[in-house]
Amino acid sequence: MTDLTAHVVILAAGQGTRMKSRVPKVLHPVAGRTMIGHVLRTAASVNPATITLIVGHQADTVRDRLREVPGLQFALQKPQRGTAHALQQAEPALTDRTGTLVLLSGDVPLLTPATLARLLDAHHAAGAAATVVTANVERPYGYGRIVRTGGRIARIVEEKDASPAERRIHEINSGIYAFDLAPLFDALRTIASKNAQGEYYLTDLIGIYRRRKLPVETYTVENAAEIRGVNSRSELAEVSAIVRQTKNEELMAAGVTIVDPATTYIDPDVQVGADTVIHPGVVLEGQTRIGAACEIHAYTRLVDAEIGDRVTVNNYCLIVGARVADGASVGPFAHLRPETEVGQGAKVGNFVELKKTTLGPGSKANHLSYLGDATIGANVNVGAGTITCNYDGQKKHQTVIEDGAFIGSDTQLIAPVKVGKGAYVGAGSSITQDVPAGALGIGRGRQSNVEGWVEKKKGGGA
Ligand code: UD1
Ligand code: CA
Repeated sequence: MTDLTAHVVILAAGQGTRMKSRVPKVLHPVAGRTMIGHVLRTAASVNPATITLIVGHQADTVRDRLREVPGLQFALQKPQRGTAHALQQAEPALTDRTGTLVLLSGDVPLLTPATLARLLDAHHAAGAAATVVTANVERPYGYGRIVRTGGRIARIVEEKDASPAERRIHEINSGIYAFDLAPLFDALRTIASKNAQGEYYLTDLIGIYRRRKLPVETYTVENAAEIRGVNSRSELAEVSAIVRQTKNEELMAAGVTIVDPATTYIDPDVQVGADTVIHPGVVLEGQTRIGAACEIHAYTRLVDAEIGDRVTVNNYCLIVGARVADGASVGPFAHLRPETEVGQGAKVGNFVELKKTTLGPGSKANHLSYLGDATIGANVNVGAGTITCNYDGQKKHQTVIEDGAFIGSDTQLIAPVKVGKGAYVGAGSSITQDVPAGALGIGRGRQSNVEGWVEKKKGGGA
């Protein structure tokens, strides 16, 4: 019986020199998720018994960021002497373990769970000691090349060590492998560092296995984009574009209209319902969820937002950590900040900012307002220019506006303050005291007119 236990090891100790960054390479985001985050997701798909991440360069930073990942263990590689030396650091974590070691690279984020599953199937079916994931690419530059004799893989040669003839080979090593654990760590110890980079190359293991007559197989991916490695900022951008394109295509296949996919940036975890229309320049980030039949107009950014069905978000809105219920309408130029809830059918108009505020169903704040730390009931009309003065320089205070109230334009609500059910507030008021239900509250200087003042002023002049 084949032992189907899988153990994943991910190499991420290298410096990533070509990124020219203070941030460890694997922590750079690829379409809203770290590079290593993509790899960890794929790793989890094979239900591994263990996952070991090899860290080295900026190990503490990487460990700190990934502390919360369940079941993830770390092994330190210091100094970094090459990929074979990196894998050797996983040995203590895998003592007495059997089964298959799946080796992934922290800088190859596009690998899919489906490919990994097929790799394991092929590896087990062939009873191989090692299976190398390869791809045929137009531009093999920089990758290790697969050297075959009689059709079978004989060895892998690195770009820097390759002869001119070997450089013309278009089949490349992805850096992803399945290994039978039994012979692996003993064989790794026999690898030398006599090569152009003076490193211990994991790729040398293939030649060693062939000489020892251990069965080595290859699994060639159809879509070479999947195994692209990220070594520079320009590759980071290319790989991110592939992730976004894949996401856009998935959504369109599920019934979402994306007017211009090239300018639409949607993170992998975002959900969008059918018949929603997304206009150009829209950015949807994090855990944003959008319901069905919504219209998201151009140049709007949503971060961790929850949008119901049939919602209209007009142009140039920023919505972060807020919820908008079914049939509501927001914008243009609205800013919804965290812990804001816009109720069913409610309207938030232009140049309106909401923070930690609930705007009840059917309520309207259509023009030029700041509503912070406020609980606003149903069918309230918040007039243009209304401001909740929620901050006294030290503390934040609550404003409550009950159902059906009418707040006249240019009102300042000096919190803590409450406007009761159905009450009216006269335009231009500074409201410092609660307004009882059904009452009219006015707080402004009385107007006085000076008859004939203009004429008198002119007469008295030169
Ligand atoms: C490696 C392979 C090459 C393959 C390519 C695919 C070797 C010798 N070469 O080359 O055949 O085509 O990947 O992307 O294996 N790392 C460590 N410790 C080290 C060195 C590297 O953990 O001492 C890690 C890196 O952080 C990276 C991965 O191993 O995640 C690959 O290393 P990198 O230096 O990028 O190798 P490549 O030159 O890309
Ligand atoms: Ca690489």
